[in-house]
Amino acid sequence: MTVFLNGKFLPLSEAHISPLDRGFLFGDGVYEVIPVYAGKLFRGNQHLDRLQNSLNGIRLTNPHSKQEWTGILEELIARQPHDNLSIYLQVTRGADNKRDHSFPGNDIQPTVFIMANELKTAPVATTQDGVCAITQPDDRWEHCDIKAITLLANILLRQQATDQGCAETILIRDGIVIEGAASNVFVVTGKLIKTPNKGHQMLTGITRDLVLEIAASQNIETVECDIAVDELLGADEVWISSSTKEVLPVTSIDGKQIGDGTPGPVWQELISYYADYKKRLVAGEIS
Ligand SMILES: Cc1ncc(COP(=O)(O)O)c(C=O)c1O
Repeated sequence: MTVFLNGKFLPLSEAHISPLDRGFLFGDGVYEVIPVYAGKLFRGNQHLDRLQNSLNGIRLTNPHSKQEWTGILEELIARQPHDNLSIYLQVTRGADNKRDHSFPGNDIQPTVFIMANELKTAPVATTQDGVCAITQPDDRWEHCDIKAITLLANILLRQQATDQGCAETILIRDGIVIEGAASNVFVVTGKLIKTPNKGHQMLTGITRDLVLEIAASQNIETVECDIAVDELLGADEVWISSSTKEVLPVTSIDGKQIGDGTPGPVWQELISYYADYKKRLVAGEIS
């Protein structure tokens, strides 16, 4: 696999970083995951805007302009054997010659690492039956809008779902739904789609925003608001969204059936518009 590390394209086996890298020592960095369909970046601009927002959040200067990032990503895509990809891009505060919590001097360059893995769409069984989720109290920090590589809390929360054979852990603060361990959450009652408000407690998903945009373009009503756990468990439909999962129906939470236990009609409708959007991107009708 060809990866990008600090200005160079090289085989993964030749990509090495220092053990003093602050990403390794402190988790001091941010990342993005960007889908690619038929060799085309999906919502690349929005992902690069969010990267800038995360870099601002950790006070790290962006090592590349948007144009440079786009050029690097396009070249990396061209060097991959697959057309549909999940790009992982990470920027850390670089490697100093000592371990010190305070930021290093300006002479230390950030470490930029990018790799691309084949993106596989959800298996048919997943979209036919939906997935199960569990709920857990959200014990993460107060800056979840920064897409930080420091993901220990998310990992432990997600593993609890995995241990129970479920796809995701839905995080709850003070009785209110926040997001998934690595996804955003939608709740449908009747034809109304609700999703939690943006804020510091959750990551504003690029997929989440696209779902809202697609719904608006089709005159489907959406609301961004607080959602109580009871509303989640009593909803007709629940969905989770992320760049790699796209939009998945959740048909059981904490062992309780959601709606009639099958992917609902609003999801069916939305996902067909989502598929159309992808087709238009691949056809070059939108960028
Ligand atoms: C905590 C969290 N929330 C939401 C998302 C969804 O974001 P996106 O749709 O941009 O992939 C992710 C994606 O990994 C995530 O880690």
